Amino acid sequence: MRVDEQLKLKGQIAFVSGAARGLGFAMAEAVAEQGAHVVMTDIDADALASAADRLRAAGGAVETIVLDVSDLDAITRAIDGIVAAHGQIDIVFANAGLSAGSGPRTEAGAMANVDLARWNALLNINLTSVFVTIRSAAAHMIKRRQGRIIVTSSIAGLRGEPMCGYAYASTKAAVANLVRQSVIELAPHNVNINAIAPGPFLTDIGQGRLRDPHVASQFVADVPLGRLGSPHEIKGLALLLASPASSFMTGAVIPIDGGASAY
Ligand SMILES: NC(=O)c1ccc[n+]([C@@H]2O[C@H](COP(=O)([O-])OP(=O)(O)OC[C@H]3O[C@@H](n4cnc5c(N)ncnc54)[C@H](O)[C@@H]3O)[C@@H](O)[C@H]2O)c1
Repeated sequence: MRVDEQLKLKGQIAFVSGAARGLGFAMAEAVAEQGAHVVMTDIDADALASAADRLRAAGGAVETIVLDVSDLDAITRAIDGIVAAHGQIDIVFANAGLSAGSGPRTEAGAMANVDLARWNALLNINLTSVFVTIRSAAAHMIKRRQGRIIVTSSIAGLRGEPMCGYAYASTKAAVANLVRQSVIELAPHNVNINAIAPGPFLTDIGQGRLRDPHVASQFVADVPLGRLGSPHEIKGLALLLASPASSFMTGAVIPIDGGASAY
């Protein structure tokens, strides 16, 4: 089969969490451009509505669900509802996630100052919600012996990262291994699951701290390409992992980081 044919997604139903902006929006855009019907979800109803309008204006087939992934039952309801409405779910991006503030070299980020209520809330959003998303999607995908799940980890989950908080680095490492662990159960059912591990991309994450030139320059210091990523630069990898072009890939955790994890 021609590879350009393998990248077409007509007739496929996709789900994206955290799709109103940033990397999740770019993931939704990537699969919508290739013909998938995309269910964009986010906690931010207004931003979600305008993000969906942008994709529709570009010809995308899009619907929205306002979804807070910290509400674990709501994730399952949303995914079951998509299958009830469309008969299938083919592509799931478990993308929504929050930063945990500054890293261990700062006073606020030092372990003595990590607030455990905030730690647990972050674990719920960055880790448990990803598990529930995978489990809810897999229940349907297994029956059809078809599906692709893509989890957003981080290069902060591959090694220590001075710029990121303890809970963030820990949860991003955990979801990378959650992906590998899930392969054991899902691969026999022809359901593929992989992770994207971005380096610093210019988005609104962490209340937009990457838009502060001082913070950005600290992140960029570790990026051999010498700049932050732009969200559209996630689209190629997102599409590859969402499409039959990656049919023999599962359990991979792929850095996309301007070389930051190379040395
Ligand atoms: N930007 C980076 O440098 C970077 C690097 C590595 C990994 N990541 C990961 O990429 C993913 C997307 O981050 P981003 O940079 O696009 O951030 P962003 O803040 O620009 O976008 C995140 C989106 O998630 C939504 N969201 C937040 N809490 C939610 C919740 N409880 N339920 C549902 N939606 C919620 C927000 O409303 C927002 O639209 C996250 O998992 C993040 O950890 C980002």
